[in-house]
This record gives sequence, structure tokens and C-alpha cells, in this order.
Amino acid sequence: MFRIFKFFIVSFVVVGLLAVVAEASSLREKALSAGLKPIPKDKIELMKAIGNPDPKSVELGKKLFFDTRISKSGRISCNTCHDLAQGGADGVPAAVGHEWAVNPHHLNSPTVYNSVFNSKQMWDGRFGTLEDQAKGPIQASPEMAASPELVVERLSSIPAYVQEFKETFPKEKEPLNFDNVARAIAAFERTLITPSRFDKYLRGDEDVLTKSEVKGLSVFIDKGCVQCHSGIGLGGIMRPFPVTGTYKYKNIGDFKGDSSGLVKVGLLRNISNTAPYFHNGAVWTLEEAVRIMGQNQLGIELSDKEVDSLVAFLFSLEGEKPVIIYPVLPSSTSKTPRPDIK
Ligand code: HEC
Ligand code: HEC
Repeated sequence: MFRIFKFFIVSFVVVGLLAVVAEASSLREKALSAGLKPIPKDKIELMKAIGNPDPKSVELGKKLFFDTRISKSGRISCNTCHDLAQGGADGVPAAVGHEWAVNPHHLNSPTVYNSVFNSKQMWDGRFGTLEDQAKGPIQASPEMAASPELVVERLSSIPAYVQEFKETFPKEKEPLNFDNVARAIAAFERTLITPSRFDKYLRGDEDVLTKSEVKGLSVFIDKGCVQCHSGIGLGGIMRPFPVTGTYKYKNIGDFKGDSSGLVKVGLLRNISNTAPYFHNGAVWTLEEAVRIMGQNQLGIELSDKEVDSLVAFLFSLEGEKPVIIYPVLPSSTSKTPRPDIK
């Protein structure tokens, strides 16, 4: 009698365990087949995914990313708004640039971490590559307000930069030009990737996520967040916004998306580092951002429990930032055009 009983107990436990294992692996498989992808671990695959940046360009681009002299005022660098110490963003609703101008459309600075995984750059997706994008903010009047000529003149007056451009682009006759400034900055940005526990999970190490994070992942897939937030970056494509109802902060700023009303789907990696949220930076908490996504993108009211588990899942996307040694920049010379500010 006892034997039979024991047999039942044992088989019950074994079946139970198998079910747990099967459920865990099936969620991981479900995530992969829904289009969620880990940052590749294999070096060759990783280089392919980030476009094989040349190490010399990366080093030069790092200097330029932090160099305020490529702005008209001599005060603003890419890092001013895309602060690598603060999630690659600036923590304010709308970007503040040249002469303290607030972005005229009240646009929020997206993070530069993992921006290499965007298929389109900018809230309206107007640039396809980081190389094309980098030329924009240097010239834009509310950002760095510098003409390409001024940038080239400033950098050309600094012998160490002249030398470094020569070494970085050895085949070119006049390597210190505006295109190469953008190319180098983009090469550096390509390296700003942040592997997280979620990547480990997708690669098969299922114990790295907590119970509530796993629950959140399953809600993320089942409710349909994954339709728009997929790929390596969990975003970065163009989609309508709002799909259902009215975005309750639509009156902040005048941004309406691209010519078809599409908006770049925010990357969700490190989202816990980069409040406030959405194109106009109107939302300060992930709980509210997630609820709005339910209402405006899926036409559903998420329960408190669903919101909590989704937010827990979003925290698992917080990644390890690359170690960046703050670069020591070469000094200006008597020929360097002075900061131009009122
Ligand atoms: C004054 C603040 C400011 C400065 C300075 C600035 N940016 Fe930005 N950046 C923004 C804002 C705001 C956006 C979104 C603008 C839009 O969509 O029209 C943006 C968008 C981007 C994007 C697109 C990311 C995405 O997810 O769509 C990248 C990449 C980027 N900036 C890189 C740079 C680089 C490189 C520099 C320096 C050359 C720079 N930015 C300087 C504020 C700034
Ligand atoms: C139909 C496509 C779509 C669906 C479905 C969707 N999103 Fe989004 N998501 C977007 C777009 C587009 C944006 C950018 C909106 C904006 O800033 O104006 C965005 C932005 C976000 C942001 C803010 C990103 C940032 O950088 O500010 C979060 C967080 C987010 N979504 C989470 C979710 C979650 C969680 C779900 C599921 C409950 C979800 N989304 C469903 C398209 C979608």
C-alpha cells in the first residue's frame, strides 16, 4: 500500500517538476519565436550586429563625443544630453541645448546606449544610420549650433587631432572633414551596448530572472507588447502612436510623428535608467508608461498586478554599461576659433 502511495507521490513530484521545466523553457522559446533576441555573445556575430566599428575610429569618436569644442558655444558636447553616466540621456523632459534653448518641439533625448540596434534614428525616424544622425545635432540650432566649417576649423587648429584623423583615415587626402567627424562619433556609439540578465536568460540560463520578471515577460508576450518591442533592442522600428484612444499628454509639444504619423518605438533596454518617458518626456514613472501603452497601443486596461510584473521585467533589461575612461582631450591653440556665445 505504502509502496503504491510512494509511487504516486514520486510520480506526482516528477511530473510537477517536468511541467515547471517545460513551462520555463517554453516561455524562453516563446520569447525567441516572438522576435526577442539576445545581444550576441560570439565575437564575430556581435561585430556583425554592431557593424564592425574600427578600433581607431572608436577611440577618436570617443574624444569627439565628449569634446564641447564641436559646438558653437564651446560648452555643449554629445554627452551633455546623452550623459553616459546617466543612462545615455539627460533626465529632463525636453532637451536643453545652445543658449539654454529648450527643444522647440519639446522632444526628449533618447538614450545613445544600444542605439545601434535602432533600425531608424530619431523620434520621427528621419535617419537610417548613426553616421547620418551624428551630423544633425552638431548643426541643429537648438542643440550644438555649429556649422561644419566651424567644426573642421576648430579641430584643424589642434595638431593632435590633425594627426589622429590622419592615422584613423590613412587612405584619405584630407581626412579631417565633417563626414569623418560623424563617422568616428558613430563608430564610438556602435560600441555602447549593454548586455543584461535578460540576454543570459534568452541564451538559456533561465535562473537569472526572478519569478516576477518571468511573469512580466509572459505578460509582455501574451498582451502583445512584443508586436512592437522586439529584436535585440526591444524597439527601434516605426509604429503608429497612439493606436487606440488619445495620448493624455498630447498637448505637450507639437510632435505628430513622421509624415504617416509613425513614431519610433522606444528601445526598452535600460529603460529604468532614463525617465522621463515618451517623445515629449511627459511621463515620470514606468508604471504610468506601461499603463498608457496598454490603453493607447493595445486598447486594454492592465491590472495592477500586470503592471507590476511588466515593470519588474523591464528592470531585467538594465544592462552592464561598457567601461569608458573619460578621455583627456588635446588642448586648443592660439589658432582655435574661440567659443562663440552671446
Ligand atoms: C541639446 C541636447 C542634445 C545634444 C547636444 C545632442 N543630442 Fe542627440 N538627441 C537629442 C534629442 C532631443 C534627440 C531626439 C530628437 C528628434 O527625434 O528629433 C536626439 C536623438 C539622438 C539620437 C537618436 C537616438 C534614437 O533612439 O532615435 C542619437 C543616436 C543621438 N541623438 C546622438 C547624438 C550625438 C552623437 C550627439 C553629438 C554629436 C548628440 N546626439 C547631441 C538631444 C541632443
Ligand atoms: C503598436 C505598437 C506598440 C505596442 C503594442 C506597445 N508599444 Fe510601447 N511604444 C510604442 C511606441 C511607438 C512608443 C513611443 C511612443 C512615444 O514616445 O511617443 C513606445 C514607447 C514605450 C515606452 C517608453 C519608451 C521611452 O523611451 O520613453 C515603454 C516603457 C513602452 N513603450 C512599453 C510597452 C509595454 C510594456 C507594452 C505592452 C503593454 C507596449 N509598450 C506596447 C509602440 C508600442
